[in-house]
Amino acid sequence: MAIRSVGVVGCGLMGGGIAQVSIQAGFPTIAVEANQQLLDRGLAGVKKNLDTLVAKARIDQKARDEALGRLTGATRLEELKACDLVVEAITETQSLKNETFARLDTICPPHAILATNTSSCNVTALAAATRRPGQVLGLHFFNPVPLMKLVEVVQTILTSEATVKTAWEWVQTLGKTPVRTKDSTAFIVNRLLVPYLLDAVRLYESGLASLEDVDTAMKLGCGYPMGPFTLLDLVGLDTALLVAEVMFEEYREPRYAPPPLLKRMVLAGRLGRKTGRGFYDYSGGTA
Ligand code: 3HC
Repeated sequence: MAIRSVGVVGCGLMGGGIAQVSIQAGFPTIAVEANQQLLDRGLAGVKKNLDTLVAKARIDQKARDEALGRLTGATRLEELKACDLVVEAITETQSLKNETFARLDTICPPHAILATNTSSCNVTALAAATRRPGQVLGLHFFNPVPLMKLVEVVQTILTSEATVKTAWEWVQTLGKTPVRTKDSTAFIVNRLLVPYLLDAVRLYESGLASLEDVDTAMKLGCGYPMGPFTLLDLVGLDTALLVAEVMFEEYREPRYAPPPLLKRMVLAGRLGRKTGRGFYDYSGGTA
């Protein structure tokens, strides 16, 4: 099957990015949000990103207009009734995702593939919430979606090879590189990345070095594009905490246990760039 039309559920940081790369690759795409206010904000984010690309002469005005012409906003899942592929990118709550997949299953055409962008929820449980478990898989994008080239294609024990093949080809059409992984909490990237980020917090808690020096050390010593605290602020401390909690729950290994400081930063509302302050202060625009 070839994908001709796409739905994206959730138009936040990740969903908005997925909708953007989908319309830029030529797919008519419907973005669904829970209410008009969230939808307006999500669509405005996509438009702003495309405008930035025009300002930087990365795309021309015509390409921007054509891409935006392919984007439709909606506040009802029922609008996805003709989509060949739906990518869900809502809050990382298993019960909410299970419910969404059960509803999508009744709304979408029988041939449609239902994908989740989850980084920590159980994809097999989502498949089991539908009557089409062979057509359910994970498509895990990375933040910031328009820049990061990887997509983890997550196959459950129920996902058919035909579904993987179709999704794999769609990911390639977006200009991304797919890698295949089984449905096991955190997949490949977060399985390696999260303990590294948690260790950075533990290291800072221990008083070994300053935030800035840890970040500089990993950038210049290892060639990482950004240090662990800059990356935590980008990903969102609440997201990092949630992923760590789910990983600890699943594997019961101390290296996945969230350190006390991370929990307290989240309780204090210092979630990173999105709230203007995480490990660094962004109130002046830059860190
Ligand atoms: N959105 C869009 N564009 C962005 C951006 C963003 N959030 N941040 C930076 N850019 C653009 C800049 O405008 C700049 O564009 P230009 O070349 O046209 O001027 C370009 O990217 C380079 O930016 P900078 O020079 O400011 O910074 P860098 O060279 O460090 O590049 C980066 C930015 C690509 C984000 C790079 O730092 C990077 O790759 N960082 C690591 C990101 C990462 O690890 N992401 C994965 C997170 S884990 C995850 O998502 C999984 C989840 O489940 C938790």
